[in-house]
Amino acid sequence: MSKRYTITAALPYTNGPIHIGHLAGVYVPADIYARYLRLCGKEVLFICGSDEHGVAISMKAKKEGVTPKEIIDKYHHIIKDSFDSFGISFDYYGRTSSEVHHETAQEFFKTMHDNDCFETITSAQLYDEKEHQFLADRYVVGTCPKCQHTEAYGDQCEACGSSLNATDLIEPKSALSGATPSLKSTTHWYLPLNRYEEFLREWILEGHQKDWKPNVLGQVKSWLDDGLKPRAVTRDLAWGIPVPVAGGENKVLYVWFDAPIGYVSATKEWAKQNNKDWKPYWQDKETELVHFIGKDNIVFHCIIFPAVLKSMNDYILPQNVPANEFLNLEGQKLSTSKNWAVWLHEYLVDFPNKEDVLRYVLTANAPETKDNDFTWNDFQTRNNSELVAIFGNFINRVMVLMHKYYDGIVPSPHEQHEVDKQLLIQLSVAPDQISSLLNQYKFRAASQEMIQIARLGNKYLADEEPWKLIKTNPKRVATIMFTAMQVAASLATLSGPFLPHIAAKLIAMMQLEESSWEATKELPLINSGHILGKAELLFEKIEDEAIQLQQEKLG
Ligand code: 2FM
Ligand code: ZN
Repeated sequence: MSKRYTITAALPYTNGPIHIGHLAGVYVPADIYARYLRLCGKEVLFICGSDEHGVAISMKAKKEGVTPKEIIDKYHHIIKDSFDSFGISFDYYGRTSSEVHHETAQEFFKTMHDNDCFETITSAQLYDEKEHQFLADRYVVGTCPKCQHTEAYGDQCEACGSSLNATDLIEPKSALSGATPSLKSTTHWYLPLNRYEEFLREWILEGHQKDWKPNVLGQVKSWLDDGLKPRAVTRDLAWGIPVPVAGGENKVLYVWFDAPIGYVSATKEWAKQNNKDWKPYWQDKETELVHFIGKDNIVFHCIIFPAVLKSMNDYILPQNVPANEFLNLEGQKLSTSKNWAVWLHEYLVDFPNKEDVLRYVLTANAPETKDNDFTWNDFQTRNNSELVAIFGNFINRVMVLMHKYYDGIVPSPHEQHEVDKQLLIQLSVAPDQISSLLNQYKFRAASQEMIQIARLGNKYLADEEPWKLIKTNPKRVATIMFTAMQVAASLATLSGPFLPHIAAKLIAMMQLEESSWEATKELPLINSGHILGKAELLFEKIEDEAIQLQQEKLG
């Protein structure tokens, strides 16, 4: 077992708010994992932050007629607030515009430069004559040479995931002026990825064949089979981190060089604030590093950043990179420009206090092995038929009956029937069943195992019908209610990673102490004589009108 965990979630670009696709693909699974490990008593550092450099930011600033700084300040706060509202429990949320990050990224570059890890190459690059601007990354759009997608960027095709050089694009056009670019000579520092092919093949394709997701292994294999090429890590741009070596004047670090280093700088900032040493989180071999990302980030986290970490010598490599596929919305690709999205800050206005409902729906339908679709009808069904009818109904029944029959004081059980014993056996193995799925990053299936506990409790009450026996057989009812209370107490802990707000409410309502994952295996979880708090509804039905409104709002 690892000594500690460094869990990272992809740093979102601060060029707009975040939507359900971000939450489903990266932040909810990462948060479930972090919360689960904390409940297991592990030492966890869960890190994220705003990605504030790169062309995505300068383009947005240009479009809005403001400075890049104004853009990043605005969206950093909007994004951070959304994460807070949805209970994404980062230990630290940094910014790549911070001083510590600039220094750290420059140190990485300088060390690699001094250790001859780069090659300088002078070549003809795309240039916009009208804008007097070299065109890299999102400043240039064209047809992907691999999949023919017509809106590929200068560094990456988001349709097929290929990592590109701007000059690879077919019929490139400047995203600034629409002009066809000319070619102009410029010199840059390149990371010769070809030098790392053997190491990557051995480390990932041989070493992690069994524990990494097939979609991640597949992409890595395809890049390695195509042969890796040197990749420029500097740019002729004004917005970014200045290149800290001679000849770097008027150049900045490529955003994908500095962004993942943001995980390290955020760790440094967290450590400083908490009087800790940052190094063990990145340099101790007993630390397990896990990167949560979307599939468009695989090349950067499995090829480029590991090559950087490897060349820095002292750093650990990720133990896993559980990348998710994409989430679509009502059958179409999520799109900011077409406003085909569900924005998190807007969701909360329409569905106040329903953060966990969205978390649950996005987990139950997570795009873990293939792209998946979010539909408002499915959202309604999962809320009404699973959270309300199963989880909420079970808890509400138990709490109401406990108050009605015993004034909220847990009764002593009497002779156990086979059905009680069977239920308790299932309850005691549930934590390990969920653990096994979570340890394999199967969050969808794990969420269903958790709901299954409530389903068992619901069925138990429906079958045993304590309300029919209360007058004739009070001893049996006491046993039934004692048993049902164990199910409710188990849910209060095991639902925590998935439904953190609801779990906290349940713990308060049942007046329980915060428990650990391990402790839920040892029954009873709640003793006779324990006094419960007031019963409150955990979930409420979502009506057709609310769903129609959302459907009409799209686009
Ligand atoms: O794709 C994105 O939104 C990037 N901003 C992710 C960066 S992840 C990391 F490496 F910082
Ligand atoms: Zn492509």
